[in-house]
Amino acid sequence: MQSLPSSTDNLFDKDWPDFRSFWNLAPTIAHLNHGSFGAVPRKLKKAQNSWQTRLERNPNGFIWSELEPAMELVRRRVSTFLNTSPNQLLLTSNITNAISTVLASTTLLPGDEILITEDTYPGVKAAVAQAALRFQACVVVVDLPSHNLTPLGISSAILEHVSPHTRLAIIDHITSPTAILLDVTLLTKELHQKGVKVAIDGAHATGSIPVDINSIGADFYVGNFHKWCCSPHSSACLAFSQNSNSLLPGIPGLKDNEGFPQRFEWAGTLDYSAILATPDALSFFDKIGWQRTREQNTTLVAYGARIVSEFFEQIAPAESQLPMQVVSIPSPFKNLGSLNLRNALAKQGVEVAVVDARNQLFLRLSAHLYNRPSDYQKLVKALKKLK
Ligand SMILES: Cc1ncc(COP(=O)(O)O)c(C=O)c1O
Repeated sequence: MQSLPSSTDNLFDKDWPDFRSFWNLAPTIAHLNHGSFGAVPRKLKKAQNSWQTRLERNPNGFIWSELEPAMELVRRRVSTFLNTSPNQLLLTSNITNAISTVLASTTLLPGDEILITEDTYPGVKAAVAQAALRFQACVVVVDLPSHNLTPLGISSAILEHVSPHTRLAIIDHITSPTAILLDVTLLTKELHQKGVKVAIDGAHATGSIPVDINSIGADFYVGNFHKWCCSPHSSACLAFSQNSNSLLPGIPGLKDNEGFPQRFEWAGTLDYSAILATPDALSFFDKIGWQRTREQNTTLVAYGARIVSEFFEQIAPAESQLPMQVVSIPSPFKNLGSLNLRNALAKQGVEVAVVDARNQLFLRLSAHLYNRPSDYQKLVKALKKLK
């Protein structure tokens, strides 16, 4: 890993091109929240647009003749990237949709339990609550230990809440509000030993770290490409280990009796261009180098977390291999509340996630190739003004 710069913009290698120019991002804003909605390089928007143009030239012909073979190629490319089989992976618009397929495909009886954690993404929590209500099942929400917020502490807390009634556990590969990487391979093994099906929510993992779905061994792995792979928005996947005949789509559609994959991928008339442009997103980072990108992002976000922690007169977070880090927000800043603080920073040209978790406020910082050390310095300056 590169050593951290003190205050200058010289983090990049001499031959590192000006990555910010690859994106359409407003230059007056420090974009420090890649984690929520990603950001799409111009080149990949162009790739998406060319698929849209192909569709518009002959909508009927494109959808009936060209779409399925094109989706098949994407499925193969994505499966190789994530090390799974194209016959065990379906393409979908986002994780929210993928999770509804996981839940539709899980048999629940009254009294069964679905295990999630307090860090589970709110949309996933809502889908679980609805499924539980429908089947008179129960949702067990694992409180996470604020004193032992380590991957091991979180895994132990999850395992302690397994009961003979637990049918399914939905676990984040990287927790969303607190950016903690869990050992999902070990956790899956331990949950399987207790007879629990496992779904891994890889929203922040696909692209940000190497993901090997076969080695993880979960029953379901959901991931998206519109965050850390920078694909156009609305591109995600669901990998599954069971026979596709026993899988049910979250949203049944026109091709329901055609089986896998049409049954799942045809959820009405959708804009498939983001999914179709996803191989271009993977190639974009193949060319730059995934490892180089990840090291750059990890180093940069650690620098950001360090200077913000220094400003808050706190110890910097431990080293991590992720492009996201959280810094807890002390008084008087936390007294503003998450929304006011986010808005006050946005007014000064800093977009950053202010996260409310476990009765604490955190700044969740991201880094991607368009970021510079000056973006984090701008955040510190903006915080100073709020003091
Ligand atoms: C852990 C987690 N799961 C699911 C989602 C929702 O993803 P999508 O927008 O692809 O539905 C997010 C979004 O930030 C997330 O952080």
